[in-house]
Amino acid sequence: MGLVNAAQMLKDARAGGYAVGQFNINNLEWTKAIFQVAQEMKSPVILGVSEGAAKYMGGFKTVVALVGAMVEDLGITVPVATHLDHGSYDGCLKCIEAGFTSVMYDGSKLPIDENVAKMKELLAIAHAKGISMEGEVGSIGGEEDGVVGKGEIASAQECGQLAATGVDFLAAGIGNIHGVYPAGWQGLDFEALEAINNATGGIPLVLHGGTGIPEEMIKRSISLGVSKINVNTEKQLVFAAATRKYIEEGKDKEGKGFDPRKLLAPGVEAIKKTVREKMELFGSANKA
Ligand code: 13P
Repeated sequence: MGLVNAAQMLKDARAGGYAVGQFNINNLEWTKAIFQVAQEMKSPVILGVSEGAAKYMGGFKTVVALVGAMVEDLGITVPVATHLDHGSYDGCLKCIEAGFTSVMYDGSKLPIDENVAKMKELLAIAHAKGISMEGEVGSIGGEEDGVVGKGEIASAQECGQLAATGVDFLAAGIGNIHGVYPAGWQGLDFEALEAINNATGGIPLVLHGGTGIPEEMIKRSISLGVSKINVNTEKQLVFAAATRKYIEEGKDKEGKGFDPRKLLAPGVEAIKKTVREKMELFGSANKA
């Protein structure tokens, strides 16, 4: 299977009562770790790339080339989508041109009519090329690579308006936050999620801010139509902690412990463990 858009894999997830993880990437190590686990777990997977991460990696074309070459070199047969995370209008156009298989247009800060109008324009271009699209209503709290949100709960009626454009999947703010959840966080608003699910005609829903959401809330959100869950910060935290341990234990000073392949290995293993756990929790293992 290899590279595909994310529309069918998320329809299948919704019908099958599980969610596909979007795991954000930053570099070669992140990409390879996620691929290896997806293949090992026989799970479909979405690689999330923010505009900031793409810039860091060299640009959208570098991302497409890296992902495409790795699918071949590693013999990846599970379905994989390369997805722009929280894209601007221009960012979406560039990614469509560069060869991403899926893009998110984040028009959540605009009045709903404008969000809908821009989405329609982009959908005409993306769908003509077989590229899937995600939209957003309400806002995800916290900050993700410079995209800051206040965390408003999405209006079900506005979600219905965006769903009616024919967008493939929809992210709605339901009290979720990018990054680590603060002490005293109120949890996800399941009443809002239920209303959104009822107003959007069965479109796969997306839960951003997957880091640190308790298991029970993840499962309940999947039962209410969430078919894609985004995880970013948690992989950064476990990578940093494992790397810190390696250095603090002085492993970089033993033999050739300074070799980057050795230095980065504990962090990569930590990412793999996290991705494995999420695929189990989301129920996407053995679905490819
Ligand atoms: P976290 O960084 O909180 O896991 O959120 C990821 C995300 O939603 C990417 O869009």
